[in-house]
Amino acid sequence: MTLSEEGAGSVAAGFLRACALSELADDAPHRVELDGVPVSLVRTQGEVFAISDVCSHANVSLSEGEVENCQIECWLHGSSFDLRTGKPSGLPATRPVAVYPVKIVGDDVLVSVTQES
Ligand code: FES
Repeated sequence: MTLSEEGAGSVAAGFLRACALSELADDAPHRVELDGVPVSLVRTQGEVFAISDVCSHANVSLSEGEVENCQIECWLHGSSFDLRTGKPSGLPATRPVAVYPVKIVGDDVLVSVTQES
């Protein structure tokens, strides 16, 4: 969702406040835990994405990796995951990671971890 699509309003059902939009620097992943689910929030190219913070290849935090071209790279073995789909672009990871819907309401970043997008 682009940053300008959502104005101030009521919190949508199923969405939890993850952090303030102002806390997110461009291309700097931000790890949060929502209902016990580790999530990496990434602000890049004018959008905010929420992706599982656990690599599908091993139990490694993706938020410690680098962001480039709408992908986040796992620091351990180098697989990159598309922030929009969660799909890996190369080995060794072969399975996608979950991506979650994001809403921006005012300065709040809201994420639903009960539905994968
Ligand atoms: S742990 Fe992420 S690619 Fe191996």
